[in-house]
Amino acid sequence: MTDTEIKYLLPGIPGLHKIDVYEKEGGYRALKKALGMKPDDVIEEVKKSNLRGRGGACFPTGLKWSFMPKSSDKPKYLCVNADEGEPGTFKDREVIEQNPHMLIEGTLIASYAMGVKTAYVYIRGEYVKWMKILENAISEAYEKGYIGKKIAGSNYSVDIYVHRGAGAYICGEESSLMNSLEGERGYPRVKPPFPAQYGLWGCPTTINNVETLANVPVIIKNGADWYLNIGNEKHPGTLLYGVSGHVNNPGVFELPTDVLLTDLIYKFAGGIRNNKKLKAVIPGGSSTPILRGESIEGVQMNADSLKDAGSSIGTGGVIVMDEDTDIPHILERIARFYHHESCGQCTPCREGTGWMENIIKRINRGGGTMKDLDVLMDVANNIEGNTICALGDAAAWPVQSALKNFRDEFEEKIKNAETVAA
Ligand SMILES: Cc1cc2nc3c(=O)[nH]c(=O)nc-3n(C[C@H](O)[C@H](O)[C@H](O)COP(=O)(O)O)c2cc1C
Repeated sequence: MTDTEIKYLLPGIPGLHKIDVYEKEGGYRALKKALGMKPDDVIEEVKKSNLRGRGGACFPTGLKWSFMPKSSDKPKYLCVNADEGEPGTFKDREVIEQNPHMLIEGTLIASYAMGVKTAYVYIRGEYVKWMKILENAISEAYEKGYIGKKIAGSNYSVDIYVHRGAGAYICGEESSLMNSLEGERGYPRVKPPFPAQYGLWGCPTTINNVETLANVPVIIKNGADWYLNIGNEKHPGTLLYGVSGHVNNPGVFELPTDVLLTDLIYKFAGGIRNNKKLKAVIPGGSSTPILRGESIEGVQMNADSLKDAGSSIGTGGVIVMDEDTDIPHILERIARFYHHESCGQCTPCREGTGWMENIIKRINRGGGTMKDLDVLMDVANNIEGNTICALGDAAAWPVQSALKNFRDEFEEKIKNAETVAA
């Protein structure tokens, strides 16, 4: 069901970041309802809702929660992933700025459902403003008895802490995030064991994205059936699409998951600047495969539709490029990012990201050969799937897709350079 009027994450209500306004709008009622349910029933409702993670991988949230052991002699933890490091992604900070109590309420419901007594919000180091907003909101919720001992008149107690990251993209990866929280170097951990078995300090842990958790209160309040009716049934709800690049009206748009990518660009983001033609779109943050502009007709902004189109919904960060865009130049910029952010633990990623950047640079500077294109693809193919974490894949996909969908541009650069040299 496409209903572009449904907005529960960013409803645009003035002062919603304050607890009394949030309560007046029905806030914290879902928490009270959840506290009156059995924890397993809360998990079942979230499972039934088909809520899928908004951190990039679309993993089913209820299923993830059900992996947490029911009884454990160790403490259980929830990490709220507010690292938001993927280029082109700037939506979690909008939730924190405009609707922090919805995130807190979702965090509390998730904690209750999984028997978690301590939740940590791991927030991107540069997000100082948003950290302060969130800390204020958390203080308000403590004062009102929604966080702390025996919350909202129940027997359940829970604490929430905010932890500031130190500015590394890799620390958004869930296992690096836990190492970083523990005070260790932010290296990804080998899985298995998975976090639900061996997470923070070796204890059962779940990691969820900000936007994912902010969806939970409406699911509990209105029920899974209500939620399943928004957008695509297999990937329901609204999504926060961050549209950037060559559009007239960039920004974050809350729309259902069956919205067309073309509508997002032309209707909501105001179309291409200066009436130029669309050349390319990266639909879900810089790691998702780049698409040719003419191939996006009929593509909807959900996991299946974008997969069929040869890309991924990722974090919903849509980067729009007009006809004047130099794709090899864009790819160099992206490759530089992944090379810089590779933690260096796995050889294919540590070495390969540098090789890819160097080859693309060489092509852009007029020293490339046709063979470079095959080597570039080969390096990308040998990184993909061969690293501990998905940063390697994130570095490989832009290269593979740019070579597949825009090979002509790379060949043209090489041919032009050869002509000049001759
Ligand atoms: C290199 C890398 C960086 C990541 N950065 C983030 C991030 O900034 N925020 C986030 O929520 N997930 C990030 N993820 C995904 C997390 O590992 C994890 O899947 C996610 O937080 C799970 O939440 P969800 O199930 O609610 O989507 C990153 C993954 C990788 C491989």
